[in-house]
Amino acid sequence: MKKQIALFIISVCFGTAFAADGKEVYDKVCYKCHRSGVDDAPKPSDKAAWAPRLATGMEALYKSVIEGKGEMPPRADKPHLSDEELKAAVDYIVSQVK
Ligand code: HEC
Repeated sequence: MKKQIALFIISVCFGTAFAADGKEVYDKVCYKCHRSGVDDAPKPSDKAAWAPRLATGMEALYKSVIEGKGEMPPRADKPHLSDEELKAAVDYIVSQVK
């Protein structure tokens, strides 16, 4: 029984440590363009700018960030970020738009 509890605690700790934190990635990387609208980067507060983008679906938005789009460099110019981290950041932005 004790062993199971220990395993449970370990899995909870590692789960949080490794789960990509979209807000953190946004605050560190995406924010500098998306907050102020650098090069027309759509701001999370600008619903009208996001409406046509959201309509293309989440997969298309993930792809834009991973491969780059217009003035946005591939992987937001941070090659060390994993797909999971980039997607979590997109999810975070989208959660702020709604
Ligand atoms: C160097 C500035 C810059 C950075 C850093 C940046 N973006 Fe962008 N982003 C842009 C610009 C500019 C556009 C508009 C591109 C266009 O539509 O031509 C854009 C568009 C987008 C879109 C919409 C894509 C689409 O298909 O319409 C998403 C989603 C997005 N950014 C997410 C992110 C995320 C997540 C990050 C951080 C990991 C990030 N961006 C970092 C400049 C930036």
